[in-house]
Amino acid sequence: MCGIVAYVGSRSAQPILLDALNRLEYRGYDSAGLAILNGKGLEVRKKSGRILELAKACEAHPVQGNLGISHTRWATHGAATDQNAHPHLDSSGRLALVHNGVIENYLELKSQLSKTGHRFASETDTEILAHLIGEAFQASKEKGEARLIEAVRNAIARIHGTLGIAVIHADLPGLVVGARRGSPLVIGVGQGENFLASDIQALAPYTNRVVILQDQEIVSLHADRFDIIAPLGAKTNFKVEKIENGVTHSDKGSHPHYMLKEIFEQPSSILNAFRGRLDSDGATAKLGGLNLTSEQLRKIERICVLGCGTALHSGMVGKYLIESLAKIPVETQHASEFRYGDSPVSAHTLFLAVSQSGETADTLGALREAKRRGYTCLGICNNVASTIARESDGGVYMHAGPEIGVAATKSFTSQVTIFALLGLLLGRLRSLSASHGAELLEALTHLPHKIEETLKHSDKVAQVAQKYAATRSMLFLGRLANFPIALEGALKMKEITYIHAEGYPSAELKHGVIALIDKDTPTVLIATQDGVYEKNLGSLQEIKARGGPVIALAHEGDKKIMGLADALLEVPQTHRLLQPILNVIPLQLLSYHMAVALGRDVDKPRNLAKSVTVE
Ligand code: M6R
Repeated sequence: MCGIVAYVGSRSAQPILLDALNRLEYRGYDSAGLAILNGKGLEVRKKSGRILELAKACEAHPVQGNLGISHTRWATHGAATDQNAHPHLDSSGRLALVHNGVIENYLELKSQLSKTGHRFASETDTEILAHLIGEAFQASKEKGEARLIEAVRNAIARIHGTLGIAVIHADLPGLVVGARRGSPLVIGVGQGENFLASDIQALAPYTNRVVILQDQEIVSLHADRFDIIAPLGAKTNFKVEKIENGVTHSDKGSHPHYMLKEIFEQPSSILNAFRGRLDSDGATAKLGGLNLTSEQLRKIERICVLGCGTALHSGMVGKYLIESLAKIPVETQHASEFRYGDSPVSAHTLFLAVSQSGETADTLGALREAKRRGYTCLGICNNVASTIARESDGGVYMHAGPEIGVAATKSFTSQVTIFALLGLLLGRLRSLSASHGAELLEALTHLPHKIEETLKHSDKVAQVAQKYAATRSMLFLGRLANFPIALEGALKMKEITYIHAEGYPSAELKHGVIALIDKDTPTVLIATQDGVYEKNLGSLQEIKARGGPVIALAHEGDKKIMGLADALLEVPQTHRLLQPILNVIPLQLLSYHMAVALGRDVDKPRNLAKSVTVE
């Protein structure tokens, strides 16, 4: 987590750093800070809270200078206080550092440094690294920029953990040193100015020419040049890439929150997920980026989907889609568990790493582990040129546009749409008939319109939200492909309203969960008409018999359910395999409207960050 931006050039650094940092606030928003070389030495501003607080501090006491580093923090070690905000300084007070990552052996290093007289101003792991680099800088016999580069290399060699860092020193005006191990860093190449950031998105207004720093590389950055130094110390070649279409700034438009805007963007984000990918002649899908031949696709015997949070839920829906369409067994794994587990994987398994950001540390770690074991890994990502997208053997971009709200919404429906395409493609290479393929294609083309119809119910969902906003605990139930939709509904609810919510397969109710049912515990029951509709009605009756309120998610005009449930969330009917895409939308809206009713910070809920780049 955490976002880093550095600037060196001829313009005033402060406004550029603050602006670019704002684009990274989704990576964490516990505190923010910057350090600028002002011609005499280092000047630091840092504040707990949002970047706005830092901007106010900078407005009150502006910092002049053309070179600086900045940071927005998601707290790992130490609370969200001014002291713990980055940048951190070394003992001399002349070196400043910003860091994204986690230093696992920081306690051991802290104790070693304390014994040699180091004193610390914060509780962070990062400050230890600032002191280590400062100490190595003092000890170095090198001159000029080589001195700071050597100090960085020697210090990070003592660190266990992950880092993306930017370092400046008052003795070396004109130089920023960056280094990366595990956490992403990208160089933005300008004219007479250069940038360093943890994400391309930060640099969108300044440049679209970037160099993605590889793991273990160090960069020395000046206004008019930069060098990349490989782990063993030699300068290395690099490629400047031009990023097209991947980086656009997004505003809320007429919507009060990004989350609502993104929910309402789903007709077009879904369209973008399948645009140009439908092959009506072959009743199949075209996915050019897989980098696998039809022959290789036919040989796949199993699929393992890796992801976290919402991305994992999309994989769970994907399991139903691929198993139904292609009859290939699919397992889903929490990326964080797969990474450290011993779970055996059979030969001819294809891995799919699903991640909106493409930077989630757990998913990236799992992808690397699968690749280490010799498996082919594809990525399903939204962020173009993200680490997961680059490290995968191939993949499918979502083209959903920037998702700023911390709660994932449109990325989920895009991911499920891509699973439908993948299932169709794999199915048509096996036993799926052309007529069944064509049915799904036809339904896909109508899906954006069906989503528009679903969104028309937003005001009614808001009324339901008002009615139940005072609740303290909720259940979400669904069966088969709607079980992950129940999980996703519960996750959205927890994440942005802070109401306790649990998702279960409906039939699990009687195996323990039913003990939670009382008049104050509403259940959202997904009961659109499918093969388990009657079974779901049975669950509804069981809940009602125990006095529990039921909010039923049902097809428009379902009179049977209307007569039984306490509240209704309605959706139009679509192809049975695509129904989960429509069903999740009222649940996104329910959590959104409840969060608004409760006065929550919808786009930036407490304790969270959009992109989880630490383990
Ligand atoms: O960027 P990713 O898709 O890899 O993110 C994975 C999860 O962190 C993410 O889906 C998270 O669960 C969302 N905030 C949920 O709304």
